[in-house]
Amino acid sequence: FPVLSVGAGLAFAQDMVTVGSAWQNQRGSVMYIESVGPDGSFRGVFVNKAAGTYCQNTPYPMTGRTNQSALAFVVNWKNGTEDCKSITAWAGYISGGHMTTKWNLSVAGSTKPDQIMSGVDVFKPLAFEAH
Ligand code: BTN
Repeated sequence: FPVLSVGAGLAFAQDMVTVGSAWQNQRGSVMYIESVGPDGSFRGVFVNKAAGTYCQNTPYPMTGRTNQSALAFVVNWKNGTEDCKSITAWAGYISGGHMTTKWNLSVAGSTKPDQIMSGVDVFKPLAFEAH
């Protein structure tokens, strides 16, 4: 877990988005990084904990990219438990050890019209805990 890297002030997202790292946003949601590629790609899962949203508390596959301090990642809110017929894409950067993002949540309309919601999420590295 790259807590020492934070102290060293590393700016590159690929130095912080590492296998086994976990990030929590201000809504309580957590993303876990399970693999990273040499091209700046990464994969993992996202557990949504945001109040007032659907598809909470089970892991959804997440894929992303880093390029220097910049990064972006996507979650399709469909897994074996639930299908919320929506997709979120976050884009942001890592600076000062925090990940600042803006997101768009695209919701497919069924009874309601299609719509895009948007907001800001700030993720901080979750301290690794051994169990
Ligand atoms: C849905 O409600 O259609 C699916 C869940 C969406 C959760 C959103 S994604 C952006 C924001 N940040 C979070 O951690 N959760 C909400």
